Amino acid sequence: MAKVIGILSLKGGVGKTSSVVSLGAAMADLGKKVLLVDANLSAPNLGLHLNVVDPEKTLHDVLKGEANITETIVNLDNFDLIPASIFNKSKLNALKLRDKLNFLKDRYDYILIDSSPSLTEETLAAILASDEILVVTTPDVPTLSMTIKAIKVAKQRGTPIIGMIVNKVHDKNFEIPIREVEKSAGVPVMAVIPHDVGVLKALSDFEPYTHDNNSRGSTEYKKLAAALMGQKYKSFSFREMLGLTPSLQDVNRVAFYTSVFQ
Ligand SMILES: Nc1ncnc2c1ncn2[C@@H]1O[C@H](COP(=O)(O)OP(=O)(O)O)[C@@H](O)[C@H]1O
Ligand SMILES: [Mg+2]
Repeated sequence: MAKVIGILSLKGGVGKTSSVVSLGAAMADLGKKVLLVDANLSAPNLGLHLNVVDPEKTLHDVLKGEANITETIVNLDNFDLIPASIFNKSKLNALKLRDKLNFLKDRYDYILIDSSPSLTEETLAAILASDEILVVTTPDVPTLSMTIKAIKVAKQRGTPIIGMIVNKVHDKNFEIPIREVEKSAGVPVMAVIPHDVGVLKALSDFEPYTHDNNSRGSTEYKKLAAALMGQKYKSFSFREMLGLTPSLQDVNRVAFYTSVFQ
């Protein structure tokens, strides 16, 4: 049975869609059956990240009751995608998302939901369809304030929060330190992704960023994917080699997979 993980943030441009692609690709590369779902119904673009430009059937058709969800699945290299429609403006019932995804739970190990940044029914539908939530933030005050709000909304709905992905980190002293981000939000930081032009390059190549094997961000997504699957990601680590204390997110990932899976 698939675990459904919603990727949430109530602000646009922080890296939800990029994180869905990277995390999904990393999980698929670790051998899992993965489905990515574009539930950003008002401004979908997950398909465009993966060169799925003009799909025949979309999640919109499913939520309008005009298509079966299995008809909307697009098979990509090593994971699947359900796109949404860029052009569709007619009425639909977003809250059916959970029931519709239930039909697919026995086909996948993980279903990752990309969501909208607006606090509307579609975001609520994504939260309610998720077994667990990962929140994406950047280390600045306006985004963090919306992150805290997103966490509150998910908690009110009773959906457990795994933790946060802190994205677009420049490692500058004007940024909110990662520990402070964690303290203010009250949920563990599970991955720290540097601001990296490699993410933009991957986007223009329609390739998951995790296929870049040398970048720090790519390794962070792979470590997060492994932790969510109950595994330790084995990689060469300068920190370990030099006997330095592990990073906050390394400690949180170990805590996650040991508490959940052992
Ligand atoms: N770590 C990163 N470094 C550099 N650019 C990034 C990073 N993460 C995302 N981006 C870029 O930022 C933009 C917004 O990302 P996106 O994933 O679409 O955000 P959201 O889905 O939250 O609106 C995209 O152009 C994406 O390529
Ligand atoms: Mg997006």
